[in-house]
Amino acid sequence: MALPSIKIADLNLTVPIIQGGMGIGISLANLAGAVAKSGGLGIISSAQIGFKLPEFERNPLKANLKAIGLELKKARAIAQDGLVGFNVMASTFHYERYIKEIVAQKADVIISGGGLPTQLPEFTKGSTTKIAPIVSSQKACKVVLNYWHKKYQTTADFIVVEGPKAGGHLGFKVPQLTDENFDMDQELVKIIAETQKFAELYGHEIPVFFGGGVYTHEDIEHYLALGCRGVQVATRFVVTAECDAPQAFKDAYLMAEEKDLQIIKSPVGMPARAIDNYFTQKSAAGRIPIEKCRNCLSHSHCDRKTIPYCISEHLLKSAGKNPLQGLIFAGATVHRLKEMTTVPQLMQELVGK
Ligand SMILES: Cc1cc2nc3c(=O)[nH]c(=O)nc-3n(C[C@H](O)[C@H](O)[C@H](O)COP(=O)(O)O)c2cc1C
Repeated sequence: MALPSIKIADLNLTVPIIQGGMGIGISLANLAGAVAKSGGLGIISSAQIGFKLPEFERNPLKANLKAIGLELKKARAIAQDGLVGFNVMASTFHYERYIKEIVAQKADVIISGGGLPTQLPEFTKGSTTKIAPIVSSQKACKVVLNYWHKKYQTTADFIVVEGPKAGGHLGFKVPQLTDENFDMDQELVKIIAETQKFAELYGHEIPVFFGGGVYTHEDIEHYLALGCRGVQVATRFVVTAECDAPQAFKDAYLMAEEKDLQIIKSPVGMPARAIDNYFTQKSAAGRIPIEKCRNCLSHSHCDRKTIPYCISEHLLKSAGKNPLQGLIFAGATVHRLKEMTTVPQLMQELVGK
């Protein structure tokens, strides 16, 4: 089946595939631009986005805000007319400043999860940037859309649903992640029905995208048959030539076996999926003292005195000079990846050509 192009409000998405945001430094301009050029929606992660700039160590916030414009410009140059947006974790310290900068730079979309992005519409009001929350349950979907409706008299432009097979932070309790009877498809159908209520209320479609374990063209057909308008894919894009991750990070993906996947506890307070390595073993053995706080998370999400380890510090390692010493997030399908590819090749495969 050919995948239909869709509209997100007034934006035309030629291929209904969103490349999921991957922080730190895994989805930056190169990857997002290449995906957008191939007709998908390219997403840059805002998490410590400025880590390559000289001012980052002295003033991470300033570097990150500056890098938003730089990365978007670079992605747009690659993408030609394609769509490019940002992923911003709702728990980001100075969330408002990040969102306002992204809006000022005129990104096409903002996708926000890792907690509920209750205030997102307040900071994008009056702009052309389209917004989507990431949810993992009907309950979360209802809470965020009700809140936006009551407080801001607005709704989402689209929704990203993340299932338990996704990489990085997961919106589930650990027992749910290991419960073989948990039926995400059933939950997804409920989320689509919940979204539909708000679509009717506001008189416009709210397309739903599913992410988490989407690997083949047939998987995409499955989610479209359930009522989704598209999918969000991340893990598969890591082993492309265009992905911004260091080659050692990509090699860790190619070498990973199913037994190497671990559910770890993140300082954000959510479980997360990562590849077992030096870091996971060290953190399992006890608290890793913080070397340097770069103020990545808001204080309500990170108690600097008690967290088991600093998430920025270890994600920065995996995006930098020591990938194998750092925290390597990955989705549950990582062990299926056997070779490097390119974004156009992967997009062609997913589209089913
Ligand atoms: C390396 C990596 C980093 C990620 N970082 C983020 C992030 O910063 N913010 C976020 O909302 N999701 C993040 N995710 C989740 C992806 O955006 C995506 O929704 C999910 O991984 C989709 O499942 P898949 O990897 O099986 O395709 C990350 C995933 C990976 C693999």
